[in-house]
Amino acid sequence: MINLILLGLPGAGKGTASERIVDKYHLTHISTGDMFREAMANKTKVGLEAKSYIDKGNLVPDEVTAKLVEERLSQPDIKEGYILDGFPRTTVQAELLEGITKRLKKPLTNVIALEVDEETLIKRLSARYMCKNCGATYNKISKQPKVEGTCDRCGGHEFYQREDDKPEVVKNRLEVNEKMNAPLKDFYQKKGLLTVINGKQTPEKVFEDIDAVLSNNQ
Ligand code: AP5
Ligand code: MG
Ligand code: ZN
Repeated sequence: MINLILLGLPGAGKGTASERIVDKYHLTHISTGDMFREAMANKTKVGLEAKSYIDKGNLVPDEVTAKLVEERLSQPDIKEGYILDGFPRTTVQAELLEGITKRLKKPLTNVIALEVDEETLIKRLSARYMCKNCGATYNKISKQPKVEGTCDRCGGHEFYQREDDKPEVVKNRLEVNEKMNAPLKDFYQKKGLLTVINGKQTPEKVFEDIDAVLSNNQ
C-alpha cells in the first residue's frame, strides 16, 4: 500500500509527476488546487471563499482545506492508496492531516519533496497553459501538444493561462509557499518519511527517481 504526499513549490512538477505515478501505481490523485479550481468553476460556497485567496496567490485557510481533504479521503475509491498533491502546505495542515489519517486508518507511507530553484519555477509557471475542456497541462517551452493547437488528451482546441500564473500573482505565490517549505520538510524528516528528489531533471528522470522510492515500498 502506498499513501504518498508530494511536496514542492508552485511549478515544481507535482501534477506532472502525479500523472505518471497514477499510470503505474493506480493511486487516487488528490490535488487541493484542482479541487478548488473545480469548486470555483461551479461557484460553490467553498469555491467562492477560495477564489479570494487563490487569485491573489495566498493560501486558503487551513481548516477549510483540511475539511475538503478529509471528505475526499473518506470516499471509497481511496482504498488502493492515494497521492496528496499540494496538501499539506503548512505545519498546521500537516498536524491536521495526522488526525485525519488516524481517524480514517489510512497512514502515510512516503513523503517526496521535489526540489527546484526559484528561477526555474518562474520560467515554468509563465510558460504553462491548460486545456479549457479537460484541464490537461502544457508548457510553451517543455511540453507542447503533439499536434499544434490540439489537446493530446481530449482533442480540444481552446487553452488558457491559470489566473494565478500571471506574473504579478506568481511572485506572491512563491513567497507565501517558500516560507512554509523548510518547516514542512523538517516535520516529515523527523518522522523518517521524507525523500528529496531533484525536480529540475526531465519529467522522465524525475519519475524514475520517484519510482525507485515507491517500488521499494510495495
Ligand atoms: P495548486 O494548483 O496546487 O498550485 P501550486 O502548488 O502552486 O502548484 P502548481 O499546480 O502550480 O505546480 P505543480 O507542482 O503541479 O507543477 P506542474 O506539474 O503543473 O494550488 C493553487 C492554489 O490553491 C494555491 O496557490 C492556494 O491558493 C490554493 N491551495 C491549494 N492547496 C492548498 C493548501 N493545501 N492550503 C492552502 N491553499 C491551498 O508543472 C508546472 C509546469 O512545468 C507545467 O507547464 C509542466 O508542463 C512543466 N514541467 C513540469 N515538470 C517539468 C520538468 N521536469 N521539466 C520541465 N518542465 C516541467
Ligand atoms: Mg499542480
Ligand atoms: Zn483537453
